[in-house]
Amino acid sequence: MTLHGEALSREWNRSLFRSSFVVKTPDFRSLCKAEKPVFSKKTGFFSRVSDTECFAKRTRCLGSKFDILGDTMTQRYGNIIGWGKYTPKRVVTNHELAQRLDTSDEWIVARTGIRERRIAAADETVSSMAVAAAREALTVAGLRARDLGLIIVATSSPDHLTPPVSSQVQHALGAKDIGAFTLVAACPGFVYSLVTAQQFIASGACDNVLVIGVELISRFIDWDDRTTSVLFGDGAGAVIVQASDKPCGVLAHVLGSDGSGAEHLILPAGGSAIPASHEALVDGLNYLRMNGNEVFKFATRVLGKALQQAIAKAGLTADDIDLFIPHQANARIIESAARQAGLPHEKVFVNIDRYGNTSAASIPIALSEAMEQGRAKAGDTLAFVAFGAGLTWAAAVVKLGERLAPARVSQGLIQLPNWATRLRDTAISTMDRIRALDWVRRVRRPHKHERHDLYAR
Ligand code: UT7
Repeated sequence: MTLHGEALSREWNRSLFRSSFVVKTPDFRSLCKAEKPVFSKKTGFFSRVSDTECFAKRTRCLGSKFDILGDTMTQRYGNIIGWGKYTPKRVVTNHELAQRLDTSDEWIVARTGIRERRIAAADETVSSMAVAAAREALTVAGLRARDLGLIIVATSSPDHLTPPVSSQVQHALGAKDIGAFTLVAACPGFVYSLVTAQQFIASGACDNVLVIGVELISRFIDWDDRTTSVLFGDGAGAVIVQASDKPCGVLAHVLGSDGSGAEHLILPAGGSAIPASHEALVDGLNYLRMNGNEVFKFATRVLGKALQQAIAKAGLTADDIDLFIPHQANARIIESAARQAGLPHEKVFVNIDRYGNTSAASIPIALSEAMEQGRAKAGDTLAFVAFGAGLTWAAAVVKLGERLAPARVSQGLIQLPNWATRLRDTAISTMDRIRALDWVRRVRRPHKHERHDLYAR
């Protein structure tokens, strides 16, 4: 893309925050007109810098971030080159729940589309599940942890309020000394994180970013409350986003939030407003509370609209979307969003029947399955949309690049024999379990009430 005149000036000013422009030399004059007055320490006055100074200053400032090719700068895109998921072994069916709650398989299937969900074992944690999904994504990408530049973990159920679970994941993966942070944006957290990863790639700050969506909500559920316990499940999904000069990755996005609906989906205690205490436990404030009807109405109001906006922002129509991967919260909500955006049934990916609502993990788990099943292919255009506590929502249109095959491992060039794959997987999961157990042993008080074992075998 080559810009001239006003458009160039506008892009130049916006370029401090993103890198989507190419500079053509003859237009430096009009470009410098866009420069705001600067404060000079020397004179003590605001003044306009000269054209040459302005260009030199900005080039110095931006030069390290962009590939300057002659008189042009190239845009960097975030290509998804690896994906992976981890779901706990333990399956809890609707029938099993119906044995201890006043509910039925018919009600749950009809109202939500859920048939079963995965529940983490007592020795599993958000970090252990995140690491397992991340390892799979790295393998598919043909990268090692030391190739990563940044880790973003989207979760609302971290191992601890502090330290950030992202650092535990970074350490366990062996991605020495790189930046890592946890992003809390409820169920849309993965889409928020993917968009954030895209900014780090576009700015030139990182070449490979690991993005994880992971939740262990079963630890925050009152298993006697039928309005929440039938809905949620545990799991993790991860992707590797790599810099590319081919147009791909997040083409457009819409992020939204409306705090006026905060009380509709809330975990009241455990934060600084209501710290963990005996009273909080007695009142059950340590469990997730939801006004299902309100959240349902909110979701059907915002999702279809956000999806349409993201598709339009990308300059596309519903016909251009190859696969719609929505947050798996409720089959009726998914249907409503697809209908509003004009996406036919065949283009919608649904796996809520097997996993329930895994919050921030639901889109990356679904994406991994879509890749594995060949429903998402190289060059495809995908649409993501999610909503959740906050209240929050997010939509993104994502184009898959041409490089989807693993570079070195997995289904790619080096195919390990079955026995070696099994041996490797056993060794990795044993190490994860030992690490998780050791962690749990160190941080837990021995007499702590073991309510987490409710669904652990
Ligand atoms: O990631 C975001 C997370 N949150 C969500 O996605 C929640 C969005 N909301 C929903 O998915 C739906 O509102 C629910 C599935 C939670 C509930 O479905 P609904 O069609 O909105 O049902 P409702 O809340 O209006 O309840 C209808 C009836 C009520 O009984 P009465 O008052 O009509 O006698 C409930 O008490 O269904 C009853 N009910 C149940 N019955 C059997 C509520 N939960 C259950 C249950 N089993 N598990």
